[in-house]
Amino acid sequence: MGYSSLTKEIRNGSNSGKKVKKNEMKEMKCQKRTRIIIKSRFAANILKYGKGKHMKQLTEKQKEQIEVLLKEMTIEEKLGQMNQISPSIVGGFDVSFEELIEMMTDGRISKEEFGRMMAGAKQDYHDDVNRAGGLSSVLISDPEVANQLQKIAVEETRLGIPLLFGFDVIHGFRTVVPIALAEAGTFEMDLIEKTGRIAAKESRAVGIAWHFAPMVDISRDARWGRISEGPGEDPYLASAFAAARVRGLQNDEEDSNNEVAACLKHYAAYGACESGRDYNTTGMALSMLHNTYLAPFKAAVEEGAVTVMAAFNDLNGIPCTVNKYLLRDILKDMYGFEGFVVSDANAIKECVVHGIAEDETEAAAKAMAAGMDMDMGTWIYSRKLKEAVETGKADISDIDDAVRRILSIKMRLGLFDHPYVTQEQMHRYDTLPQEHIAHALETAEKSIVLLKNEGVLPLEKSANISLVGALADMPEEVLGSWAIGGRAKDCVTIYQGLQNAGAAVSYHPCCGPEGELDEAQVRMAVEAGDVIVAVVGELASMSGEASSRADISLPGRQQEMLKMLLESGKPVVALLMNGRPLALSWEKEHLPAMVECWHLGIQMGNAVAHVLFGEVNPSGKLTCTFPAVTGQCPMYYNAPKTGRPGSKSKFTSRYLDAPVEPLYPFGYGLSYTEFTYSDMDVQETKEHLQVRVLLKNTGSRDGAEVVQLYMQDVCASIVRPVKELKGFAKQYLKAGESKTVTIMLPKYQMGFYDDQARYHLEDGRFILYIGGNSKDCLSQEVYVRFEITG
Ligand code: NOJ
Repeated sequence: MGYSSLTKEIRNGSNSGKKVKKNEMKEMKCQKRTRIIIKSRFAANILKYGKGKHMKQLTEKQKEQIEVLLKEMTIEEKLGQMNQISPSIVGGFDVSFEELIEMMTDGRISKEEFGRMMAGAKQDYHDDVNRAGGLSSVLISDPEVANQLQKIAVEETRLGIPLLFGFDVIHGFRTVVPIALAEAGTFEMDLIEKTGRIAAKESRAVGIAWHFAPMVDISRDARWGRISEGPGEDPYLASAFAAARVRGLQNDEEDSNNEVAACLKHYAAYGACESGRDYNTTGMALSMLHNTYLAPFKAAVEEGAVTVMAAFNDLNGIPCTVNKYLLRDILKDMYGFEGFVVSDANAIKECVVHGIAEDETEAAAKAMAAGMDMDMGTWIYSRKLKEAVETGKADISDIDDAVRRILSIKMRLGLFDHPYVTQEQMHRYDTLPQEHIAHALETAEKSIVLLKNEGVLPLEKSANISLVGALADMPEEVLGSWAIGGRAKDCVTIYQGLQNAGAAVSYHPCCGPEGELDEAQVRMAVEAGDVIVAVVGELASMSGEASSRADISLPGRQQEMLKMLLESGKPVVALLMNGRPLALSWEKEHLPAMVECWHLGIQMGNAVAHVLFGEVNPSGKLTCTFPAVTGQCPMYYNAPKTGRPGSKSKFTSRYLDAPVEPLYPFGYGLSYTEFTYSDMDVQETKEHLQVRVLLKNTGSRDGAEVVQLYMQDVCASIVRPVKELKGFAKQYLKAGESKTVTIMLPKYQMGFYDDQARYHLEDGRFILYIGGNSKDCLSQEVYVRFEITG
């Protein structure tokens, strides 16, 4: 398959000055638009993303072994293979564990009371069910317990099928790196891949062979707490991130026994939950679904991801758990996904609450029919599916298909040959290897985004620093959301980082995201230093699951603290530590310097210190738009073009009481040096547009810049985005150095899906943009004619 096209350069865009000539424009309009529509299955293949072959494939002998097992299995054993559980917590309390958590969350019992009850509670691992072949997978991270459960499965069940231990390893296991929202902003796919490889090694050592990750939900609403877990708002970057992480998790060339199964989640469009409220309904045109929300899933499936987790939400009225269009038609049929699908926790049962199933049996039957292979946490498949088969509501061939998929992944992971972990393995990462720590440091340094700097940064090492903010010295807060494998002993806080760097620093907690403001301490802080470094933001628990916020400004009394600090007249540098974009209009206006540090993982303190003192020049970019006020949410750079784009005039798409523009656009991030862009040039090859630009480091420091290529399809058969990221290249330049950066845009990536999931390549005008963020770009318009050849 190849393409040839006639591309006609029409004009150089805004920054390069040449205007479109009138007669050229007329000629263009007269040209007939050619539309190439590629049928769905074909479209899935044509956009082939990655290399796609990780984890050993099944041998013929293994395939036969699976068929033999299937023939041997009773229906109960088959349903056992479709049962994923967490240990139940049992104790001397009258209510369920879930209700107990709820009671603590809504304040009916205190955290301390909850802790006391938990201390007396026990875990029930369901040994008898396990022995009867009723378990397939357990969410667990204790290797001693895992070995015991595995021993029952392998040595005491009739068929000896090993268990698959799964865990939420979202941004590192022991070596916790920046939250994905931050790490994606490095734009370095090798790093993102390596994070996966290290996490796989560390978790496999304690028996975890299945990561409920990567989370690749596109999220454009900063109110949604789970925006922290994924790579942000852009489908192109998210696709690259998803594929890189899958490569890392599922591919270890040195030792395939270190590989783990990736689980793409949450399929699909969970990040588009209405008003950013977690678990809320999701509705959208199918073209939007395919062009945006499914893109990273598709890329990662093409990369070889072997499992997928369905999302909690309904999509256009059908919960993803029972959504045949998503699970069978798109994932299994169109994308050719050969692995298995697991529900999210409790989600099959929740179909009754959604009001889409009368009872648990109907929920089970609907999920099975839709292509859901494994039930997480409800036991409904193992308890109800048999009845559904007997009454004709479920089909045994669907069950066989699910079991075949599950067994093949267990086999590909080598669990049949190596079901246990040894004592040596389980203690291998008690102390983290230097290489892992160095990786955590590098990713953290490169994830930091310099938002504003009026000549305050970098600081002199000799500066007398007053460090304020409770967040500056709370070890586990550096880990961010979903970092259960992280250990406090490995965490470096910002206070420790500054001390490690040999800074002259005094520390004054003053105020955190919660609780009171200690004004006396603020006054002391002001007296103590010549420059004030204020760490402000969110606790790790303020982002992640079930952590949506209706107001995304700085929580608690932190802004008041900043105001008091500023009154001193001393320079105040804000270090932001948060899991989502924050609305920081006041802060941007008044503070001379702001650094977005996110939740950077175990090496946070050292990384921040290196940037603060200029040993590392910041190069991270924003992976999500920062709104000026919460009311702008959802706000994202790649929005569909409206007929009345927001402007100063009243009858345009805008709010009366908020600016049209965001506070910071996608792709934004400053450096301690300056980069300039010039000499944009677009050349056509047979299958690509080759876009070149001259990048100069005009400042006095060495630094790295993420050169970003965007595209706008000027006129198409459906409304297309204002801009779409289509490529990037990270370039290091010494002070004063310049280099021509080239980005190749494959022509087949210039199309889009329609509502029937058909891929269109439509001739016409395209504007290409190149620059250091999604707003400030050079541009050039081209005419592209697509022709399929071969
Ligand atoms: C619910 C979350 O939505 C999902 O991301 C996670 O993997 C499961 N619980 C298991 O912990």
